[in-house]
Amino acid sequence: MPQLVAGRLVVVGLGLIGGSLALALKAKGGCGEVIGVEPCQQTCEQAVERGVVDSAMTELEMVLPLLEPGDIVFVAVPTLAIASVFASLKKSLPAGVTVTDGASVKGSVVTAAQKIWGGVVPDFLVPGHPIAGSEQSGITAAREDLYTAHSIILTPLETTAAAHRLRVEKMWRAVGAEVLIMPVTEHDEVLAATSHLPHVIAFGLVDTLAHDAENENIFRYAAGGFRDFTRIASSDPLMWRDIMLANRDAILKSIDLYTTNLSQLRTAIAAADSQHLMGVFTRAKAARDHFAKMLTKRAYTELMNTKEITFIARPGGSVKGNLRLPGDKSISHRAIMLGALAEGTTEVQGLLEGEDVLATLQAFRDMGVVIEGPLAGRIVIHGVGMQGLQAPPGPIYMGNSGTAMRLLAGLLAGQSFNATLIGDASLSQRPMDRVAEPLRQMGAKIQTDTQGRPPLIIEGGQQLQAIDYRLPMASAQVKSCVLLAGLYAQGITSITEPAATRDHTERLLQGFGYPLMRNGARVSITGGGSLRACSIEVPVDISSAAFFIVAATIAPGADVWLEHVGINPTREGAINILQAMGADIVLSNRRQVGGEPVVDIRVRHARLKGIQIPEDQVPLAIDEFPALFIAAACATGTTVLTGAQELRVKECDRIQVMADGLQELGIKTEVRTDGIVIQGKGEGKVFTGGQVESCGDHRISMSFAVAALRAEDEIRILGCANVATSFPNFVELAGRAGMYLSSLS
Ligand code: S3P
Repeated sequence: MPQLVAGRLVVVGLGLIGGSLALALKAKGGCGEVIGVEPCQQTCEQAVERGVVDSAMTELEMVLPLLEPGDIVFVAVPTLAIASVFASLKKSLPAGVTVTDGASVKGSVVTAAQKIWGGVVPDFLVPGHPIAGSEQSGITAAREDLYTAHSIILTPLETTAAAHRLRVEKMWRAVGAEVLIMPVTEHDEVLAATSHLPHVIAFGLVDTLAHDAENENIFRYAAGGFRDFTRIASSDPLMWRDIMLANRDAILKSIDLYTTNLSQLRTAIAAADSQHLMGVFTRAKAARDHFAKMLTKRAYTELMNTKEITFIARPGGSVKGNLRLPGDKSISHRAIMLGALAEGTTEVQGLLEGEDVLATLQAFRDMGVVIEGPLAGRIVIHGVGMQGLQAPPGPIYMGNSGTAMRLLAGLLAGQSFNATLIGDASLSQRPMDRVAEPLRQMGAKIQTDTQGRPPLIIEGGQQLQAIDYRLPMASAQVKSCVLLAGLYAQGITSITEPAATRDHTERLLQGFGYPLMRNGARVSITGGGSLRACSIEVPVDISSAAFFIVAATIAPGADVWLEHVGINPTREGAINILQAMGADIVLSNRRQVGGEPVVDIRVRHARLKGIQIPEDQVPLAIDEFPALFIAAACATGTTVLTGAQELRVKECDRIQVMADGLQELGIKTEVRTDGIVIQGKGEGKVFTGGQVESCGDHRISMSFAVAALRAEDEIRILGCANVATSFPNFVELAGRAGMYLSSLS
């Protein structure tokens, strides 16, 4: 449906910007008539011939008497020519006509308007800037789709009338653009940095090379890099001269900043300072990969998972062969954190390259730490020492990762700068008062929302004091958070846990040479020490292995070897539980790797029986319950889980969401506040087919994929994008093992 936004559109200046708006608005039926104004008679004729405008005149004064309320004048002339257009408008613009412009600098447009209209910018003027130019110019370059999906920045003033602003917004939306509103000075500073400075550099570089005696050779051999980098040096010189003069102060500020950076790079190259070079290049690469986010001045990366992914798990299949699964998520997070704070260079192998861990990696890059990689699971962290982190450029986005947010909260509580931690929709619902509470007792200033959830706003510059803390729940994340804050506290921080939870933080701290006292359920640390860089080999994540252990256990004829799996005693609950149910799991080749026990695991199909799961195993299998529930459905008899209320505050309410999915697949369950009762079906195809919802929880998605091994029909699993947080190649490895799994996006 054409949407009429103006009776007439008058375009003053028939170049790329003006001509493209004329074409687009006509094509969308957004105005009754388009009139062009352009001093060059030949361009006027060309514009009419090409159908860019309905008519064109060489003088604005000839057009103005024709205009009526509801018409729009779009001024698209070079920045410094705007004042003379305004002078003509002042003489004979009829009331009710809206005026807007497309100049790259807004301060000078406002100054010109003030000068012409006696100090007050008229209410019909809506300064604007389409961010859609290119190095091409002139009426012949005009394109109907130039503005589609591009941003238009409007910088209305206090005097601008709402009706005129809305008309301009409507016009840009009608041609498919997105409208942003910004103050004039902010616009000019942002554009100086993101557009004007790059043009200065491109013009300057090409000019430098063109002057070089060898220039013919230089241009002959200059390939992709030169071409990409200097494309904008083909832009219209007059237009760019005007922009430089009009936005002088902001551009000078950007040039000075860049000059300092360039001379530091020069010094680094001269001194072969590889760390400085890697720092600049890795930060720049991350920033370039996500440059759209930088415009809004947020941290370099936002791993916002907006994709919709559905798993299609066809019934049957088997589980066979030797598999090397991804690295441990908990250890990967901690290796980055401690490596960043260590003195010296830490090398990590086997890092999990899942989105949760990448969020942690980016957080430290945002805080000035140079991290090379990841490349095939290897990163090199150039530690900055305990006091070396820098304030991040904006809120730190932790994606889906509770571990990253809670552990970082502890670290950040002891820094000299302020920081805000935010997360995705799931993380934003998760309890953070469990870390905010003890941190406040230590003297941290930390805010959550009114219900104790993210964002976490941490005020730096507090001297933390040690506490003796009894954990109200069995949580390794809370324990680790307090331990990390304890590094910055005065005195000895002690933590006592109600049940043993994963102890990777403690093991890694010791690996980094930080002394720690352990006494039964109590662990203590003295603040003020330092960490020594080391090498870390991350074992395979037993929580990821659990899906294949359950898969092989329930699939008739299955026989699989899982190599190099971490078997920390605080993580072996799932193996104990499955063995108690009758699973055939053999651990061999036990060894120590980087302070963690590692084994190879062989799993063969076995008949299972339901059990009452011992409560002391719950913290040791906390992440594996979704997979264990699938095993329980394939067992003979009833499986009862109690003491597991923590499952309700994971990436989703894992008790309820699993119960809903199991019911959909024909399994009877009884949900309890702190657990679940599952009626196992024993032999044969225990699951029907159907559609289940994993509520964006990676472990739920993977568990239902495993269930298909014993299903009658296809299982469609919705909300699987977050599998990438912990197990990015799950679909591929499941397929390699013999499962019939595919992913639809
Ligand atoms: C983790 C601890 C556990 C676990 C999570 C990772 C860790 O959470 O569920 O996936 O790395 O410390 P809680 O400590 O909250 O139980």
